[in-house]
Amino acid sequence: MNQLLLYCRSGFEKECAGEIQDKASQQGVFGFCKLSKDAAFVIFEAYESEALATFYRDYDFTNLIFARQWFLLVDDLLQLNPADRISTVVETALAAELSAFGELRVEYPETNDGKTLSTLARKLTVPLRQSLRKAGVLLQKENSRAAVLHLFMLSGSSAYLGISYPENNSPLENGIMRLKFPADAPSRSTLKLEEAFLQFIPKDEWDTRLTSGMRAVDLGACPGGWTYQLVKRSMMVTAIDNGMMAQSLMDTGQVKHFQVDGFKFSPDKKNVYWLVCDMIEKPQRVGQLVCDWLINEWCQESIFNLKLPMKKRYETVVEVLDMMRQKLDEAGLDVEFQAKHLYHDREEVTVHVRKF
Ligand SMILES: C[S@@+](CC[C@H](N)C(=O)[O-])C[C@H]1O[C@@H](n2cnc3c(N)ncnc32)[C@H](O)[C@@H]1O
Repeated sequence: MNQLLLYCRSGFEKECAGEIQDKASQQGVFGFCKLSKDAAFVIFEAYESEALATFYRDYDFTNLIFARQWFLLVDDLLQLNPADRISTVVETALAAELSAFGELRVEYPETNDGKTLSTLARKLTVPLRQSLRKAGVLLQKENSRAAVLHLFMLSGSSAYLGISYPENNSPLENGIMRLKFPADAPSRSTLKLEEAFLQFIPKDEWDTRLTSGMRAVDLGACPGGWTYQLVKRSMMVTAIDNGMMAQSLMDTGQVKHFQVDGFKFSPDKKNVYWLVCDMIEKPQRVGQLVCDWLINEWCQESIFNLKLPMKKRYETVVEVLDMMRQKLDEAGLDVEFQAKHLYHDREEVTVHVRKF
């Protein structure tokens, strides 16, 4: 197996490819990418399959920013007979000596064409699972600790078969975190911060890191989608933006709104835990601002978006994160970074930084 398939947002194939090539080569794994425009996936082909297997096992998936999921390809693109897709899949799995998988996921690219395959994927899952169980490819019962078998449908008559490991993959179907829009939230942006919390903060730490009574500052807050997430968690929020905040949030009594420049605002007390920032500004400026907040001890953790309207999106993210790491390191701070192109993000990535 010398190929990795990675899912990404449609339109971000170049970033996903650039990133996997960059990060794999840093680990001594060399190869090239096959991609097509707006396909919502990329294939990385390594020159050495053993090196790729080691990289795939040891490299932390959460370090990848633009990939939503990754798996090792078992074979080249399978041609499936629409009258009997199952036999080809089972035969391919047996020929590759696959056994004892804990779960089957039938998936498809997150494109308009891809989404038309969702009904077929659902219909195929149950009979394919039964046949794979009979053949010993899948365990008799679903097991979340065993390897995952992916069938990634490109059409009704072609698909890729691949494997991933639960300790180092996305646990989500299609690598996508689907969230319900809360009817009382003032903007759809609210889902970005909700997804960021779910992505970056382990649930068993929410009691101490996302809890009632904490103070938060929201820079570029209007109309209040991100503030809504903080208010919902019973925090006290200072919202900074020249625009108007939703009255429903102001009525909670948990929000103070200042119509000032987010780059000039500073808190008068060092009691703010969270800084969140969704200002539409140059990524370098936002990165610099978050560093200032951390260095000045104005916050402990921050979630912020880097807007990426430019062509060199991956390079820009790397440049800003490197600049931030260096600045914080020079200031003697011990920090943890995570960055992800979230499902609810568009031309932007979301970054989390925590100070210890
Ligand atoms: C993408 S919107 C934020 C949406 C918000 N997170 C939500 O969920 O409703 C960006 C906001 O940043 C604000 N903004 C841009 N530059 C700013 C600055 N220098 N200071 C304060 N706010 C700024 C804009 O007024 C705008 O309301």
